[in-house]
Amino acid sequence: MHTYINKQLENLNWNKSPRELYHPIGYALESGGKRIRPALVLMACELFSGSKDDAMGAALAIEVFHNFTLLHDDIMDNAETRRNRLTVHKKWNANTAILSGDAMMIKSYEFLENTPVHLWAKLFPIFTRTALEVCEGQQYDMNFESCEEVTLDEYFNMIRLKTAVLLGAALQLGAIIGGASDDDAQHLYDFGIAIGIAFQLKDDYLDTFGDEKSFGKRIGGDIVCGKKTFLLINALTRSKNDDRLLIQNTLADKLMPEEQKISTITAIYEQLEIPSLCEKAMSDYYNRALQSLNQITGNTTDKQPFVALAQQLMGRTD
Ligand code: IPE
Ligand code: IPE
Ligand code: MG
Ligand code: MG
Ligand code: MG
Repeated sequence: MHTYINKQLENLNWNKSPRELYHPIGYALESGGKRIRPALVLMACELFSGSKDDAMGAALAIEVFHNFTLLHDDIMDNAETRRNRLTVHKKWNANTAILSGDAMMIKSYEFLENTPVHLWAKLFPIFTRTALEVCEGQQYDMNFESCEEVTLDEYFNMIRLKTAVLLGAALQLGAIIGGASDDDAQHLYDFGIAIGIAFQLKDDYLDTFGDEKSFGKRIGGDIVCGKKTFLLINALTRSKNDDRLLIQNTLADKLMPEEQKISTITAIYEQLEIPSLCEKAMSDYYNRALQSLNQITGNTTDKQPFVALAQQLMGRTD
């Protein structure tokens, strides 16, 4: 599936004028990535015996939209690397990442037009609602950087919006194109929300405990930004007075070298056994995902690829 999607992405021609607008789009899309979201669109369509050709427009729309969010996200998070390459705003500049990102978002709507016309009244509102929810999630993510107290409920709502809804929508769109009933499409959406939450938990975990080469992004970036991740929120609630103060002072310290901040906070996470807490939360969401999958009509064998993918996402290092 991965190779098939990459082939389709390679067939897109970004060699257009003005080059300053389109070249960064080609750069972002050729740089790899797991291609999970388009895979979900196609898998969902096939689960209901639909044809991959009918779903390809939605798959490309979702993947190009996802990559657009990354261009803007990397400006917002001041990230220098992604997929082991310079981010668009670092290779070019912020204005380039803004405008090429905007163009990608618009192109994603154009790709969605390559779906069966009789389904547009269902597909477009899902895509639009989801796109707006991602913006809401991204805004909460930014707001929380300067909030002292963020509850776990607020955190889970934020990651549902910024990350999980796009995985859910990918599945829902694919299911609708494949001819699923509204109920089945909804169950698959719910499956996507649960794996999406587990996915962002893993992203938070890897941002501190991953291997930089395989993760492709700077380790410790979330700590430097003061992101209210699952790790940080739990460390703040679990820590006793002195440790809590140490966390807060370290994050607020404008003079401390970034590498020292990262190692201090990472050591506290380890001492408080936050990694195993994260592991536990991921497996809770994995189990919820399987429950939603069970609700879908159809046989277990056909659903096996979804179980395999969910497992693969939990075990990933990238
Ligand atoms: C990164 O998404 C943004 C998050 C929601 C964590 P991915 O981890 O799917 O990024 P790529 O597309 O595989 O690089
Ligand atoms: C990103 O979350 C979610 C979206 C891009 C909408 P992160 O900021 O954690 O993603 P990465 O870690 O930069 O890929
Ligand atoms: Mg971000
Ligand atoms: Mg980011
Ligand atoms: Mg991240």
